[in-house]
Amino acid sequence: MGMKFKERWETLTWTWNPKSIRESSDSVVRNLLLHWFPAKVSHKSLSYRYSLWLGTISAVLFFILCATGLILMFLYVPSVERAYPSVKDIGFVASYGGFIRSVHRIAAHLMVVAVFLHMMRAFLTGAYKNGLGANQNRPVNWVLGVVLLFLTLLLSFTGYLLPWDQLAYWAITVGTNIASAAPLVGDKIRFFLLGGNQIDQNTLLRFYVLHCFVLPVSVFLLFSWHMWRVRKDGGLASVDREAQKAKEKKSIPIKTKTYALLGITSGRTVAVESSYIDQDENLVESVPNLTGRVLFVALATALLVITLAFLIQAPLEEAANPLVTPNPAKAPWYFLWLQELVADTTVHLGSFTINGALVGGILIPALLGLLLAAWPYFDRSSTAATGVWFAKERRRQNLVFLAVIFAILVLTFVGTFMRGPSWHLYWPWQAWPPSPTRF
Ligand code: HEM
Repeated sequence: MGMKFKERWETLTWTWNPKSIRESSDSVVRNLLLHWFPAKVSHKSLSYRYSLWLGTISAVLFFILCATGLILMFLYVPSVERAYPSVKDIGFVASYGGFIRSVHRIAAHLMVVAVFLHMMRAFLTGAYKNGLGANQNRPVNWVLGVVLLFLTLLLSFTGYLLPWDQLAYWAITVGTNIASAAPLVGDKIRFFLLGGNQIDQNTLLRFYVLHCFVLPVSVFLLFSWHMWRVRKDGGLASVDREAQKAKEKKSIPIKTKTYALLGITSGRTVAVESSYIDQDENLVESVPNLTGRVLFVALATALLVITLAFLIQAPLEEAANPLVTPNPAKAPWYFLWLQELVADTTVHLGSFTINGALVGGILIPALLGLLLAAWPYFDRSSTAATGVWFAKERRRQNLVFLAVIFAILVLTFVGTFMRGPSWHLYWPWQAWPPSPTRF
């Protein structure tokens, strides 16, 4: 047929590179991959400085993890006898296996960091607060976020066990021992997590199914809900800030839609205040303005992960050995602040004992988690503090929040770099005494 190659190519690719505003809107409707974007977005919400794009970075890392995880699943065998040798084969026999494993492991660590930083960003900008749009419910999206953070930690934790080496085995032993200190149900929780009284085949299979199916699917569904909520809330919270300014100038009324036909049937005029509070002049087409930035952030994130994977190999220690306890035995790094808290709150005063596992391992983190999730419902600042970095009105709560984060970082540092055999304190540069249980 007469079509030139270039024209033919463009009939396939025009949705990614629209030539007009009309084509741009059409591409959102016609392309499955683009249809979840709104046709237009506020210019403000595209800013790198406001969101730091950490949510998108988290999502990209998640998709990198799904892709590389799927490849690893073709080679990994979730059996106590074969798990460790199969990971060894991935690392040393399969073509590019070691690289894929490193990408997976690095992306997993980075995802924990990115999701945590994204949570911090949302807090410090007051992004969990409603603004001027109708039907906004940003607090719900924050709670969804807290669940996503919890699931991200669980994803990482369940993956930690799978190589079935000493690092995996003992980190999960320490982690699940902390859970068993919960009052009344602690032992039941541990039994439920492990599928028995000790870490064995049942635990491996349980963690495997959680890690490869239940948790990724849950994160994907919750992430979709999270994004849907961002749209229902009228975009990112920084957009409300613009609307607030416009309202203060009293220049422009907030948009409403009037549904005349609905009005006839119900006998009154039905006016729905739009949740979309932005003014037309602040809007730009999503394709290519939003999609272009998503692509850029995705490529930059992938490049970072790939570079790090070249530099850092995923570790693999000796095969798991329940009879040889490493000293010290440490939980995964993102739980080390908890392990440190457990140690610090285990206090013996004469016959009086504080059970650190209960206080530091369960009560304090549970309280912090609940406070975090419920915080939007305590924050009484005005809508003017929505979507602004370090709003004056929210100064006190931001400072308290940063103090708690700082404490967690210090505890993590101490747990990671300053704890040696028998959980004694050492300087990071100090040598540990030789320990008979280490080999
Ligand atoms: C798997 C984890 C998560 C993913 C993939 C994710 C993804 C996203 C994305 C892509 C956005 C759009 C803005 C941006 O890129 O920053 C966003 C917004 C948001 N996220 Fe998350 N998120 C996750 C976890 C969390 C957590 C842990 C919280 C808080 C506890 C949270 C709270 C929010 C809030 C409040 C917004 C709206 C921000 C605004 O309006 O300025 N998210 N999320």
